[in-house]
Amino acid sequence: MTAGYRRVDDAGPAQPAAMQELAGRLWSWSRRWHPGELAWFWCEHGRPGPAHRLAHWRHGDRVVAWAWARGGRLDLQLDPEHLALTARIVAWSGDRSVTVLDAETGLIEELGRHGYQRQDDGAFFVHLRRPLAGLPDAAPLPDGYTLRPVSGPADAGLRAAVHRAAFSLPGRPVTMSGADYRGVMRTPSYRPELDWLVLAPDGTPAASALAWLDVASGVAVLEPVGTDPRHRRRGLAAAASQAALRAAARLGAKHARVCARGDDDRPAARAAYEAIGFRAYARNVRLVRRA
Ligand SMILES: CC(C)(COP(=O)(O)OP(=O)(O)OC[C@H]1O[C@@H](n2cnc3c(N)ncnc32)[C@H](O)[C@@H]1OP(=O)(O)O)[C@@H](O)C(=O)NCCC(=O)NCCS
Repeated sequence: MTAGYRRVDDAGPAQPAAMQELAGRLWSWSRRWHPGELAWFWCEHGRPGPAHRLAHWRHGDRVVAWAWARGGRLDLQLDPEHLALTARIVAWSGDRSVTVLDAETGLIEELGRHGYQRQDDGAFFVHLRRPLAGLPDAAPLPDGYTLRPVSGPADAGLRAAVHRAAFSLPGRPVTMSGADYRGVMRTPSYRPELDWLVLAPDGTPAASALAWLDVASGVAVLEPVGTDPRHRRRGLAAAASQAALRAAARLGAKHARVCARGDDDRPAARAAYEAIGFRAYARNVRLVRRA
């Protein structure tokens, strides 16, 4: 029964709002998406190129699903009360590969009925959590380094610079500019007191951590955390992350969640989060439809 649904295409700013609304309404530890990281992903990838297609589905006045198709790969969220929409979504996307959380068992079964089967080769992301009670005291920073929350738009250039340094890979530069970061800062759920910077002794940015708080669930996500390669293994990501988490706890967060690569090709992030008390509880899985 799929009557009563309305698909909204190319909704502009209404699309991230719809995605965050659904993620917030459905949040539990067995869901893939938290509204905060969707806010970040929208800022990071929200200038969809021709290979991106986005839509959300409404039932009455409620958002019940969204989908983001990117060149053969589909990310989606679907209200479990409306699993019958799966057929429409996969027909709309036509993508061969869908990523879901392993705990989303109803969705996995439903996608299985449409020919999607789990394929465990390659990179994957693991989800880690920790309670915010009992966060350890901050370890001292190495000599000359300082830690502070961003001051506002005046720090956008520094913030973008450390993001580029941390996330660029050989042949895959990250292009975030100060103007792009001011866009992040204008996101309704962005809070500067949850955005922390470590500065090197010469005043250049060395590391950063940004947390997003979902007040309704009391869960904060860290997204992203990064350290300039010239300053790694000095405890800077740990210091920035813990500062962001302590700030989130002051604003009412009870738990924190973070995602990191779970495969052995990129072990650093997972190890860094485990070092500050996060523990894995679920992972993303890729479902592939036979051609
Ligand atoms: C992951 C990352 C943020 C870690 O930054 P960092 O400042 O070097 O981390 P820290 O110095 O705070 O590390 C704390 C602990 O984490 C663990 N750790 C960090 N990097 C590690 C690595 N490459 N291998 C194994 N363990 C590692 C260690 O236990 C380390 O303590 P130790 O140095 O005393 O052994 C950094 O490598 C980075 O920016 N990577 C690219 C961006 C990224 O993947 N970000 C995370 C996803 S959003």
